[in-house]
Amino acid sequence: MAHASSYQPTSSFGQWLDARLPVGRVMHDQFMTFPTPRNLNYWWTFGGILTFMLAVQIATGVVLAMHYVPTPEGAFDSVETIMRDVNWGWLLRYSHAVGGSMFFLAAYIHTFRGLYYGSYKAPREVLWILGVLILLLMIATAFMGYSLVWGQMSFWAVTVITNLFSSLDAVIPGLGTKLVQWIWGGFAVGAPTLNRLFSLHYLFPFLIAGVVVLHIWALHVPGNNNPTGIDVKGPRDTVPFHPYYTIKDGFALLMFVLLFAVLLFYAPNLLGHSDNYIPANPLQTPPHIVPEWYFLPFYAVLRAIPNKLMGVIALISSIAILFFVPWLDTSKVRSTRYRPIYKWFFWVFVVTAIVLGYLGSQPPEGWYLIFGRIFTAYYFLFFLVVMPVVGLLEKPAKLPGSITESVLGPDEPLPLSVPKARQREQVL
Ligand code: HEM
Repeated sequence: MAHASSYQPTSSFGQWLDARLPVGRVMHDQFMTFPTPRNLNYWWTFGGILTFMLAVQIATGVVLAMHYVPTPEGAFDSVETIMRDVNWGWLLRYSHAVGGSMFFLAAYIHTFRGLYYGSYKAPREVLWILGVLILLLMIATAFMGYSLVWGQMSFWAVTVITNLFSSLDAVIPGLGTKLVQWIWGGFAVGAPTLNRLFSLHYLFPFLIAGVVVLHIWALHVPGNNNPTGIDVKGPRDTVPFHPYYTIKDGFALLMFVLLFAVLLFYAPNLLGHSDNYIPANPLQTPPHIVPEWYFLPFYAVLRAIPNKLMGVIALISSIAILFFVPWLDTSKVRSTRYRPIYKWFFWVFVVTAIVLGYLGSQPPEGWYLIFGRIFTAYYFLFFLVVMPVVGLLEKPAKLPGSITESVLGPDEPLPLSVPKARQREQVL
């Protein structure tokens, strides 16, 4: 959101630099005085948490890579060496593995927050699209990272997922097989595959970091959405980012890190699969190949469709459909808070995503498969039918006159706790 800069460098070096490369000014204007809606709730703290988690993953990953050996003979043992012989190696490795789960937890909460409050609607479409791009990059990165352990689940997950490309044989015979062999660098998952997965797993987090910069830039042009979904109408509706949201984000981050620490120190393997402690064996397929928990809903969608090519198309569509959400939702109102009918469909969608996650962890047979199909159908109907149709038919509830009104009520006097200078500004 454009606002006048109040940055005044005090030191002569600060003034010198400001005239040449105004990084201090940009940081001050974008992260100190940036006008932020006064009513943001705790769901708005996850962007900062995600930024922190990205930094944790990069920092721990870079040091892990110093000890990791990307060969089929060395990979599994090097991970065990990190766990047992490298100083603080267990902490590094568990922080990175549990950190991956925490990163996805935060990303899903952040995405559902955006869906609930309509943060994808104009003028924030590009911001949303960049977010979906980050999600795709995160999925690719986590998949490649998991393969590096070279345990049974790693190896067979790579085999299953890379094999999906062979479904293209149904379009052009031979094309899929050629593509898979090109990805593998041979006729089976092996040394060249592992080496390229390692190389790309190292590269992608830096691509994510680049897209995050664009994401935050695209956020700071229109400014934040807020729980009411209505636009900022004047200075009364906002507070400076610092100290109001630095404190709130800091507190939320602390709580999040506490949860992270509980998992990390008391149950580091809770979310993992025990089969990944068995070294990869290309001659023995595990009875149930399951991905990490954060991929399970998509895995359920893949297996709900009996045809391989159609299953792959459904899998890709289940994520790609998010790109089109700004145009699928026809409602004039952003926040679901004021959408009495859509609200129900939204919560059924949340339940659907969780149930699909459970179904993805079960064998694709009997009732699991039938429910998998029903919930997959609702997953797509939500985007393709509910969003456009309910948006047109529903009569939204009455919106508050302004963000301030939604916080203080229509005729509330300003609270005494508001400092004198701010009271004056708010009365003006
Ligand atoms: C590495 C991953 C990500 C990082 C570091 C990140 C960072 C941020 C930050 C710092 C904010 C502002 C604070 C907040 O609203 O929480 C934000 C806002 C936003 N993000 Fe993300 N984000 C990430 C992933 C995503 C994803 C996956 C999506 C959606 C698919 C997304 C969609 C949005 C939207 C729509 C907003 C605007 C929220 C609003 O103002 O209402 N982001 N992001």
